[in-house]
Amino acid sequence: MIQQFDDRNKDIKVWINGDLLNRNEAKISVFDSVVQGGDSVWEGIRVYDGRIFCLDKHLKRLMESAKSMDFKDIPSVDEIKNAIFSTLKANNMIDETHIRLTLTRGEKITSGMNPQLNQFGCTLIVLAEWKSSIYDGKDLKLVTSNIRRNSPLCLDSKIHHNNLINNILAKIEANHAGVDDALMLDIDGFVSETNATNIFMIKDGIVYTPFPKACLPGITRQTVIDICQSNNIPIIEKDISVTEMYNADEVFSTGTMGELARVEEIDKRKIENKGDVLSNLQNLFRKLTEKDGEKIPF
Ligand SMILES: Cc1ncc(COP(=O)(O)O)c(C=O)c1O
Repeated sequence: MIQQFDDRNKDIKVWINGDLLNRNEAKISVFDSVVQGGDSVWEGIRVYDGRIFCLDKHLKRLMESAKSMDFKDIPSVDEIKNAIFSTLKANNMIDETHIRLTLTRGEKITSGMNPQLNQFGCTLIVLAEWKSSIYDGKDLKLVTSNIRRNSPLCLDSKIHHNNLINNILAKIEANHAGVDDALMLDIDGFVSETNATNIFMIKDGIVYTPFPKACLPGITRQTVIDICQSNNIPIIEKDISVTEMYNADEVFSTGTMGELARVEEIDKRKIENKGDVLSNLQNLFRKLTEKDGEKIPF
């Protein structure tokens, strides 16, 4: 399933370092670190009914990623919040909105990899678009990718960086296989996540998800774990093999873009999809999005 152009986004304004620019004029320098090396961190954040869901958790992860990357002159949380609110206000967006928040190491004085060439501070981009949940209730088909998800031995998945080649190569495999997303394994052969989302399975009433070793510790993933814990639904983090996934009662992916999405098939093995644990979790998640989140101040 490919996202389509939404006409409501044709005149949106994008925040770049204090300026709100029409989408056609919203450009960054060829000397910017994200162009030169994918040297940047990011967050995907969703707006529901006048509230920004899990805003503080997203900003905490962004700040931790920027610190881990040793960025200099990082804008404060309040400055970033102000940029987000200003962008939403300029576009009159209070619902059905997805924000792609990008913080790059900034511009370099000349092309090159060395962060010492960055002498102007970070570049902050707030791209807010009208975008409802991208899977739109559709069940997903997955294929297991030949590309392994980065291990902390190579590149720690706890940094939410823009160097997404690992995931994009896996997504290309999914495209060639004619399915929605790719299931990625860690270097030990256990399931890690998909190219874009975290993954869960349910068996005999118990919810399982991989340890956050080679996957992004997703905010939706943690929200699901919290929902389980506060509703007496057993939840276990463990190493999970693809075979266990094939034979699960229900499988679903989680992420800000696509929320909790049911998986119907992995490598042509049909997931039974028996039981009602997932629909219960989807309802509980929906209720949270209706009341939680930082109110947009306009
Ligand atoms: C690789 C990957 N996994 C999982 C997720 C889901 O994370 P979250 O629930 O914080 O949106 C994302 C989102 O950016 C991602 O890029």
